[in-house]
Amino acid sequence: MTAGWFITFEGGEGSGKSTQAKRLADRLTAEGHAVTVTREPGGSPFAERLRALILDPKLETHSPLAEALLFASARADHLEQVIRPALAAGRFVVCDRFSDSTRVYQGYAGRVEPRLLEALELIIVQHTKPDLTIVVDIPAEIGLARASLRLNTPPNQAPSEKTPKQPRSLLADRFEARGLDFHKKLREGFVEIARLEPQRCVVVDGQKSPDDVARDVWAAVQSRLLNEAT
Ligand SMILES: Nc1ncnc2c1ncn2[C@@H]1O[C@H](COP(=O)(O)OP(=O)(O)OP(=O)(O)O)[C@@H](O)[C@H]1O
Ligand SMILES: [Mg+2]
Repeated sequence: MTAGWFITFEGGEGSGKSTQAKRLADRLTAEGHAVTVTREPGGSPFAERLRALILDPKLETHSPLAEALLFASARADHLEQVIRPALAAGRFVVCDRFSDSTRVYQGYAGRVEPRLLEALELIIVQHTKPDLTIVVDIPAEIGLARASLRLNTPPNQAPSEKTPKQPRSLLADRFEARGLDFHKKLREGFVEIARLEPQRCVVVDGQKSPDDVARDVWAAVQSRLLNEAT
């Protein structure tokens, strides 16, 4: 059986990763492909437990290295339990955030030595590198505005002055609260990775409408993966 394709979505908060990961999965499914959609941190039962621990706002004072090792542990389990078996079965795996988020949040914009993260990535990811990484690029201000709008709005309801505040996500608690400079640095980091690894990465403009972004994503998947497979 041929191995499947591994596609990751990366980018800053509110850039549209989750929206586009779902749309791509729907499109691939409609075209007759078997698809596994997953996310990081998390993606397997053990890794989801670690996600909750890492992002728990009550545990502010753990060291950056300790946190990076927990992320690495979560990723190792996610790869073993979910990603590699799906790829071995010939499925597409669409993953909402993966190791570029670690490089950028913990390394480029964070406090862990990038060379240490590189070493961890080599050990954990091994040969299971993404075949295609879509970087959804958006100015930090716009992404943060979108994310806070979404977090305060129940699903299927237009935001309004009267909308009651919803519980904020764990990720938002940990990272969205960081300053604008941090989020600008994140954007820079993702674009820099795409510049350094153009054979793996495609940058799409997240400021376009969801339909237009989905079209750009699909064009990348077709030209980078599907045409290559035929
Ligand atoms: N192209 C777009 N134009 C305008 N709004 C969008 C677009 N894509 C997504 N949105 C909206 O912006 C918000 C954030 O989108 P989404 O959750 O997909 O981003 P994300 O990158 O996954 O965010 P996070 O980093 O917080 O997980 C949602 O309310 C979504 O409906
Ligand atoms: Mg998301």
